[in-house]
Amino acid sequence: MKEFNYLSDKDIYLDSACQSLRPQPVIDALNKYYTEFNSCGERVKYKWGETTDVHVTDTRKKVLKYLKLRQKDYFVSFTLNTTYGLNLLLNQIHPKYVKKVITSDIEHNSVFLSTMAYAKTHKIKREVVKREPDGSFPIRGQNFKKALVVVNCASNFDGRQLKNIKTLVKAVRSNDGIIIIDAAQAMGHTPEILYRTNADAICFSAHKMYAPSLGVMVVRKDLVRQLRTTFIGGGMVDDVNKSTYLLSADENPDHIHTIFEPGLQAWGEIVALGTAIDWLNKLPKSAHKNLWREATRLYNFLDSRPKVHLINSEPNPTMSFYVEGVDSHLIGAALGDKHIMARTGYFCAHYYLDHAEHYPSLIRFSLGYHTRPSDIDKIIEVLDKITNQKPKKSKKTKKK
Ligand SMILES: Cc1ncc(COP(=O)(O)O)c(C=O)c1O
Repeated sequence: MKEFNYLSDKDIYLDSACQSLRPQPVIDALNKYYTEFNSCGERVKYKWGETTDVHVTDTRKKVLKYLKLRQKDYFVSFTLNTTYGLNLLLNQIHPKYVKKVITSDIEHNSVFLSTMAYAKTHKIKREVVKREPDGSFPIRGQNFKKALVVVNCASNFDGRQLKNIKTLVKAVRSNDGIIIIDAAQAMGHTPEILYRTNADAICFSAHKMYAPSLGVMVVRKDLVRQLRTTFIGGGMVDDVNKSTYLLSADENPDHIHTIFEPGLQAWGEIVALGTAIDWLNKLPKSAHKNLWREATRLYNFLDSRPKVHLINSEPNPTMSFYVEGVDSHLIGAALGDKHIMARTGYFCAHYYLDHAEHYPSLIRFSLGYHTRPSDIDKIIEVLDKITNQKPKKSKKTKKK
């Protein structure tokens, strides 16, 4: 794809689940901010600041439009990343609204740890529910009464999706519960799963959706009533006296997003996120088709190798596996020598991959819109040799 022409032929980047490569228009937008109107947003009266304000307001609107959510119900705040977004929310949700915390077994550490911390801090019970093999959340038999539910809508090791997201959201909200969705892995390639989701909040990382490094929080306006503000600073207040202050979010409904934005924001990154969303919206259908075609080709190759154990049960641009008898980190290093950039380990999903399923360390390939058919040819060629090796007795093998 021409927007990634800067990528050399030999470099094969397979770490999009961590951060996607940025298309040239996004890099250009960031450069333009730095070289043409580098200024603070939502505070200054000079011309550059006015240009920043127009772009920042636009990005907030574009995020909601991308998710088909209404400005009447939701607002958009920016932060550092998904992890920060989740923690900002969980640290401030008043425990009087929460009877128990529910999460699932396939969560990234950012959900797993933040829910653990919330439950420990407030001495509230925390349940870790086993997701169905297809990614859906088992709803029957669950008591969601005043439950704080935090789950991902796409996994970071095999891409499986929260198929019944709408039913889950309805079940939680109709029981006076709160539901927060970790959408880090959905925004780049499968945002449609989130369309018109009535969740209380959706957190994600712009750097996983072809935009610069940035965290995004999409929050229901009425959730603010259930927060107690404990993380606070400049940019959030209209007035400060010796021991009191006025929150801008309370004073002006148009400033509600400031409730999660203490201090200076990453204005250039916010501006360029707007460009990334425009770029994603304009992507031709063929880009999506190519991505899934190449992912399927790689998946089918891996699936055909007797010594390869795939974690995925179906093709996805994100796939994880191990090769019987061969250490994944050694494979990762061997791939690295051939300019193939893949991840090895447990990808911050230690509980599920290591302790629940007892997999050995894994290799993860995560493709993106920059992936070329020649990349997959090369990976298959290199892996063909590796996976033909005689298996050694592995120390740790999958239990099931
Ligand atoms: C599903 C999921 N949730 C949360 C995160 C945390 O994202 P960040 O490191 O940008 O905070 C990741 C990162 O890979 C992820 O894949």
